Amino acid sequence: MRQAFIGFLIFLGVAMVNGQEPALPLRELAAARDFYIGAAIHTEAIKSNADYRALAEREFNLVTPENMFKFGPISPAPGEYDWSHTDALLDWAEAHHMRVHGHVLVWHQQQPGWLNEDTYSPEQLAAILERHIRTVVGRYKGRIHEWDVVNEAVADNGRLRDTIWLRALGPDYIAKAFEWAHEADPEAVLYYNDYNGDTPGLKADAIYKLVQGLVEEGVPVHGVGLQMHLIWQQQRSATPRAIGEVMIRLNDLGLKVAVTELDMRIHDPNRGREAMLDLQAEVYSNVLRACLDAPNCDTVVVWGVSDAYSWIPGFTGNDDWPLLFDETLQPKPAYEVVAQALAGED
Ligand code: XIL
Repeated sequence: MRQAFIGFLIFLGVAMVNGQEPALPLRELAAARDFYIGAAIHTEAIKSNADYRALAEREFNLVTPENMFKFGPISPAPGEYDWSHTDALLDWAEAHHMRVHGHVLVWHQQQPGWLNEDTYSPEQLAAILERHIRTVVGRYKGRIHEWDVVNEAVADNGRLRDTIWLRALGPDYIAKAFEWAHEADPEAVLYYNDYNGDTPGLKADAIYKLVQGLVEEGVPVHGVGLQMHLIWQQQRSATPRAIGEVMIRLNDLGLKVAVTELDMRIHDPNRGREAMLDLQAEVYSNVLRACLDAPNCDTVVVWGVSDAYSWIPGFTGNDDWPLLFDETLQPKPAYEVVAQALAGED
């Protein structure tokens, strides 16, 4: 019975993708194959824009709070927490049966203003980090399916990034962070998350070595998040085969992978937006297909719902149109190919 129903859903999805308006939202196509298609949720848009909220509810079965869980935004003063945004987000996600991907416990950016090495000794910093992880993970125990525990610990040269946490606790801060998170919620799936490690190369090797070491030490790390903030020049390198190679290697270590922050910049001064949309769709398709084909990948998260709220223009200074929906919340060609990939179409 269930099989027949799933078959019907997929049939409907394919039929409509071939036509004008896709009838089935991405989340239904995804759910029919036990897959999670997610989006990063913007702190202000979710509160103030009802159309944005409705679109997110319709299309995604997973959400990642884009900024609200970061140490700076959530902790205005030492030991103090503002739970207003995260509580509301969790209630909303649960009401709409969306899985929540927690982001992020340990990072070197968006740190609280009160946190600095002049004020605190290394021992105090270690205690601050431990308390932070236990407090945040503990509060939402059983409600947040998975966490990015450590973000971007590997520098572009492949060595551990020089951060406040490395200086205070030494390289062991990574293992400790995973252990504290695991103790606070033993059921949560714990990710190491990073950028530029999604196709073979120096960074992917460094990430692999880091998590291999953790696995060998018995540290509770369960997966690697591949951010995938892509640029159109990567069109040739971000192939399903190259991405798949990275995924399979991690699978051999017993680790899951998730695409955690997918977006793709298409600004090119020589070509207009329209000319770039199909190229963008091609790469979105590659990423979806690589994950769908890998035995250890069941989650792709786009880093924002619509181009209107993407972080990219603020980061690059260009209108880069990186997401699935345009500024008016209309689906772009990339949306269509994601639907096709989820529907199992060639
Ligand atoms: C970005 C957010 O999207 C912006 O709103 C914020 O100003 C800066 O951070 N890697 C990550 C994300 O892990 O947390 C970052 O998100 C993008 C890069």
